Amino acid sequence: MRISEKLLLAVLINLCLVATSVHGSASNTGRQPYIVYMGDVQEHGFSVEQHHNMLTDVIGDESIARESRLHSYKRSFNGFAAMLLPHEANRLMEREGVVSVFPNTKRKLVTTRSWDFLGMPLTVNRNHQSESDIIVGLLDTGVYPESPSFDDKGYGPPPSKWKGKCEVGANFTGCNNKLIGARSYSIQIKISDQSPADTEGHGTHTSSTVAGSAVNHASLYGIGRGTTRGGVPSARIAMYKVCWYWCSDIDILAAFDDVISDGVDVLSISIGGSSIRNYFNDSLAIGSFHAMKKGIFTACAAGNQGPYALTVSNVAPWIMTVGATGIDRKFRTEIRLGNGMKIYGLSLNTYAPTKQMYPLTSGTKAANYTDGYEAYFASSCYSGTMGQEKVEGKIVYCASGQGMFLGDRQDHTVKELGGVGTIIAGSELNDTAFSYVLPASRVDLKSGDQIDRYINTTKNPQAIIYKTKEVKVSAPFVASFSSRGPNYLSPRILKPDITAPGVDILAAYTKLASVTGQPYDDRFSLFNIVSGTSMACPHAAAAAAYVKSFHPNWSPAAIKSALMTTATAIKVRNRDAEFAYGSGHINPVKALNPGLVYDLQISSYIRFLCREGYNSTNLHLITGWSHLDCQKFQPARGHDGINYPTMTLPLPHPAKNFSAVFKRIVTNVGTNSSVYKATVKSPEGLSISVFPNTLAFNRVYQRKTFKVVIKGKPLRKETPFISASLEWSDSIHRVRSPIVVYKISAYRVTS
Ligand SMILES: *[C@@H]1O[C@H](CO)[C@@H](O)[C@H](O)[C@H]1NC(C)=O
Ligand SMILES: *[C@@H]1O[C@H](CO)[C@@H](O)[C@H](O)[C@H]1NC(C)=O
Ligand SMILES: *[C@@H]1O[C@H](CO)[C@@H](O)[C@H](O)[C@H]1NC(C)=O
Ligand SMILES: *[C@@H]1O[C@H](CO)[C@@H](O)[C@H](O)[C@H]1NC(C)=O
Ligand SMILES: *[C@@H]1O[C@H](CO)[C@@H](O)[C@H](O)[C@H]1NC(C)=O
Ligand SMILES: *[C@@H]1O[C@H](CO)[C@@H](O)[C@H](O)[C@H]1NC(C)=O
Ligand SMILES: *[C@@H]1O[C@H](CO)[C@@H](O)[C@H](O)[C@H]1NC(C)=O
Ligand SMILES: *[C@@H]1O[C@H](CO)[C@@H](O)[C@H](O)[C@H]1NC(C)=O
Repeated sequence: MRISEKLLLAVLINLCLVATSVHGSASNTGRQPYIVYMGDVQEHGFSVEQHHNMLTDVIGDESIARESRLHSYKRSFNGFAAMLLPHEANRLMEREGVVSVFPNTKRKLVTTRSWDFLGMPLTVNRNHQSESDIIVGLLDTGVYPESPSFDDKGYGPPPSKWKGKCEVGANFTGCNNKLIGARSYSIQIKISDQSPADTEGHGTHTSSTVAGSAVNHASLYGIGRGTTRGGVPSARIAMYKVCWYWCSDIDILAAFDDVISDGVDVLSISIGGSSIRNYFNDSLAIGSFHAMKKGIFTACAAGNQGPYALTVSNVAPWIMTVGATGIDRKFRTEIRLGNGMKIYGLSLNTYAPTKQMYPLTSGTKAANYTDGYEAYFASSCYSGTMGQEKVEGKIVYCASGQGMFLGDRQDHTVKELGGVGTIIAGSELNDTAFSYVLPASRVDLKSGDQIDRYINTTKNPQAIIYKTKEVKVSAPFVASFSSRGPNYLSPRILKPDITAPGVDILAAYTKLASVTGQPYDDRFSLFNIVSGTSMACPHAAAAAAYVKSFHPNWSPAAIKSALMTTATAIKVRNRDAEFAYGSGHINPVKALNPGLVYDLQISSYIRFLCREGYNSTNLHLITGWSHLDCQKFQPARGHDGINYPTMTLPLPHPAKNFSAVFKRIVTNVGTNSSVYKATVKSPEGLSISVFPNTLAFNRVYQRKTFKVVIKGKPLRKETPFISASLEWSDSIHRVRSPIVVYKISAYRVTS
């Protein structure tokens, strides 16, 4: 999701401009939208009629039932959306054939340089033919087909497996051989001029990051200039527009229903997930489960709730959960004060100054109030606290404000009052550059104090804000906004899985929205620089498509394992280490030849779900397998019961000695004959043994099992977790798995 707190404002605008009528009528009074999920589609003969009958049964009135049904899912899985009263939802939940019933929720949305940085220069070895057969699907805000990133010159017709559609509508003229599909979904809310057109920019940005064609001299008003391109520029793009400022579960599931049957190979979903909802109460987990069953790889954004622990979302083990890192450049905006002092901040300032110096003031000096909380708000340039005559024609310094977000509102307030620039102090998100509606730079608290002191002690304070320049920084580092583990829902699975670039990413944009998305920003650009785990996710999806173009028969889990075990360990270590970066930083070229993979079949996920306490009856429905019984089903093996490429041991009793056994199977995807040896890295006090510690393969696709035994003494009081690793190596390949041991009580209050 893109980080921006303009959401509230955007929602209001949306309600005024677009949303006309909410589906329903008098008979739907008091009813709320729900999703009734009924599992797999094949084995269970069903029809819209069946959904209707179920509704009639619980509602008791046929015509109300007819009106309350919003949508039936039927191409790829079974279920429907309907307007229900709580007791009707409860009665449906008890019905045979129903897996779950949950209320619809609204979710938030969460490059040249980035691909070069990932070791994929324009000249990287490619399998062009196979790459051009890959279809990447996105659930997002739509797409801007006029962007040069979707130019289809040199592309043949879509692969024959493609069964999707292209919806033509308002501001959306159609598709081509690059952008082969585009649909839009707004089932519950009727939107006038509904079409897949991207009126926000987010979906254009993400889709061009995955598979955009190369465009030379792309930049945001000269900032970040270079060639932008997607990770798999030969691949095809299919856009499923489900986000209209928010993205509702009903629409997300409708899009999945199509995606899975349309012939998409890889899915990139930069939509905020849930970190606490059970998998079958979660539209993204349900949809991606059915996608996985069809061999479709799904990458999702980890979320932008960092740096706080337990915030990672989209954590289902069949999803690749992607955190965000910064690449080796940052956008620095220089400020010079009247006394000659230079101060550097971060921002995307597209405005070049036209004078030598501008008068400078502060929110405090421009305040209409001298004391009380109004004065405090004024110091941070809060709306309605400053006098216009004190701001007009000046650059205004705004102190860091509690409860204010990213300075978004500060720049609006200053601009509204006729200010000509703003300097915003802040301690949060100090690794990310944002756009503002007037010349602006965001500085750290210390620099902020220097500026404030200069203003306080100078008769005619002055300043100038220069246009942003690019500078080199050491990288990768995990972005402060990137959501962190541990995984709340399945504590034995490490999440996020991996990180990819998500800070200050330049990619295609829409001309239907301004650079900041604000109505009174008059800058429109074919390219924009944006940050968020939303930007990281399409990098990982493209890396998966790249691996798939060389290994078309690998399962989604094999591709994910290849990406995870070859990821680069992150040197700039955060306090939260693996809980921030998972296996490390993605390395697509290395992932082509991982040596060994930790593969997973559907049955493995089912065993895992049985182990996690999901009920046989429901698992039977979602798989469509007859006689599925968790009790009789071969039980899950080892501590976590899943052949995952990472190992995580949560400790429920921090004061006790601990031990656990992890069972794993690796498949040889390297050379026919190879011998792998295990190397363990573990800190003192943690004993890790691998049995056997040598694996000899004599053919490709041969599988070998091993187990990892972990033992240790109670962790010290100040140590919430410890990191270790296992690496299998045959001297050519290195197959690395992080191992994390953590105290549950260090991350949540235990009851
Ligand atoms: C799923 O959501 C429904 C409705 O909110 C709730 O009653 C039910 O307990 C949830 N189930 C799980 C397993 O979270
Ligand atoms: C988008 O469509 C609306 C009408 O549907 C039209 O008024 C507007 O000019 C279009 N904008 C662009 C940039 O094409
Ligand atoms: C601030 O004070 C000026 C007069 O000093 C007045 O014109 C203006 O309306 C006031 N603004 C606010 C937001 O109170
Ligand atoms: C950003 O802030 C964190 C603490 O909040 C600090 O550790 C880090 O050094 C800062 N980074 C930069 C680039 O200033
Ligand atoms: C500048 O003056 C204001 C009050 O006039 C005060 O609140 C603020 O702390 C001063 N800033 C510095 C850095 O001394
Ligand atoms: C699973 O749960 C449903 C109720 O949701 C119940 O009717 C069924 O008996 C349960 N099945 C098993 C095998 O426990
Ligand atoms: C943990 O194991 C050590 C031996 O390795 C033993 O001395 C100690 O008493 C054990 N502690 C607990 C709390 O069981
Ligand atoms: C691996 O073995 C298979 C069958 O034993 C053989 O067909 C294949 O050519 C061998 N591959 C290599 C690279 O040696």
